[in-house]
Amino acid sequence: MGTIFRQRLLTILSIIIQFTFFLHTVQSLQLQTFQKLPIPANGPESMAFDSKGHGPYTGINDGRIVKYLGPKKGFVDFATTSANRTKKLCDGNTNSNLELTCGRTMGLEFNHKTGQLYALDARYGPMVVGPNGGLATPLAPGQPGLEGVPHDLPDGLDVDQVTGDVYFTYAGSVFLTGNLTLILSGDTGGRLLKYDPKTKKVTLALDGLSGPFGNAVSKDGKYVLITEYITRTIRKFWLKGPKANTSEVIVTLPGHPDNIKRTNSGNFWVAQTIINLDSTPPSSIPLGQKINAHGKILETLKLDSEYPDKSISEVNEHDGSLYIGTGSTNFVGLFLR
Ligand SMILES: *[C@@H]1O[C@H](CO)[C@@H](O)[C@H](O)[C@H]1NC(C)=O
Ligand SMILES: *[C@@H]1O[C@H](CO)[C@@H](O)[C@H](O)[C@H]1NC(C)=O
Ligand SMILES: *[C@@H]1O[C@H](CO)[C@@H](O)[C@H](O)[C@H]1NC(C)=O
Repeated sequence: MGTIFRQRLLTILSIIIQFTFFLHTVQSLQLQTFQKLPIPANGPESMAFDSKGHGPYTGINDGRIVKYLGPKKGFVDFATTSANRTKKLCDGNTNSNLELTCGRTMGLEFNHKTGQLYALDARYGPMVVGPNGGLATPLAPGQPGLEGVPHDLPDGLDVDQVTGDVYFTYAGSVFLTGNLTLILSGDTGGRLLKYDPKTKKVTLALDGLSGPFGNAVSKDGKYVLITEYITRTIRKFWLKGPKANTSEVIVTLPGHPDNIKRTNSGNFWVAQTIINLDSTPPSSIPLGQKINAHGKILETLKLDSEYPDKSISEVNEHDGSLYIGTGSTNFVGLFLR
């Protein structure tokens, strides 16, 4: 090998290395561009994108489900969950005492085949919204498994995109006390429920859960991952195969997990809050972590400078960008990639 050739090879290698490094730097720099998409009330708890990739849609604490139309138009009305809701009383209201009248959507996901939007209301339980929005319809009024409403907390929801089955969680009645010490002391009254659109029946899938705030069905429909807020764990409940109907803990997290959302590639983002009960009032450090099917942590996103001393409820990846949900802020956070 001649000297000149070797030098050229080294130069080319060095350019490749520098370029790779440059790309990597650009990617992490872009992720630091944090934007706030204003919402017309507070608390964009959970988000969903429709089959055309439009959205996000999010449920806010004045009872509306709103849809994002881009930076110029912002969020506009899409649906509501309470038949008793009036725009005059509820729009822009941030007082949770009006939840029963105005509604409050916690979990949200589309069935991408039918275009239906499934919403889990904190007071009215699981509901469905047609492709054009408007007033949601209760999925299974008065059926077994739903008798907990309103004395239990409906919280997380996802759709099995293979079968159309809807999985949702009731986090347990202890959460209605709002006493964090009591909550973290170990309730096991949470449940995972399943709605089958073919039979229109709700059945119990798994009980004995410790604060199941969120759930996400795998891309292939073989299992559901469930967050357990109290124990800081992710539980894998098998839907198919030899382990069907059994569950196992796949990871213990640094923070208390809220919603879990599947990514296009089949991994999951888990929104978490590290809570320090020793400080008065208790302090919070929010973070998101991306995990794979086995609970291996692939990425960690610290959010303490964007959400100082707040908890976050969701990290939702869409086209590589990350949308951040919370129970309290008046915006959806966005890290554009
Ligand atoms: C809705 O309004 C009707 C009629 O006023 C009332 O009977 C019903 O209890 C209300 N439901 C709720 C959940 O507030
Ligand atoms: C919360 O629950 C704990 C344990 O039961 C109790 O000691 C404490 O007084 C409660 N705090 C409030 C504000 O109710
Ligand atoms: C799982 O449980 C459901 C409901 O109890 C039951 O219908 C189904 O047959 C069970 N499946 C297996 C593989 O045990």
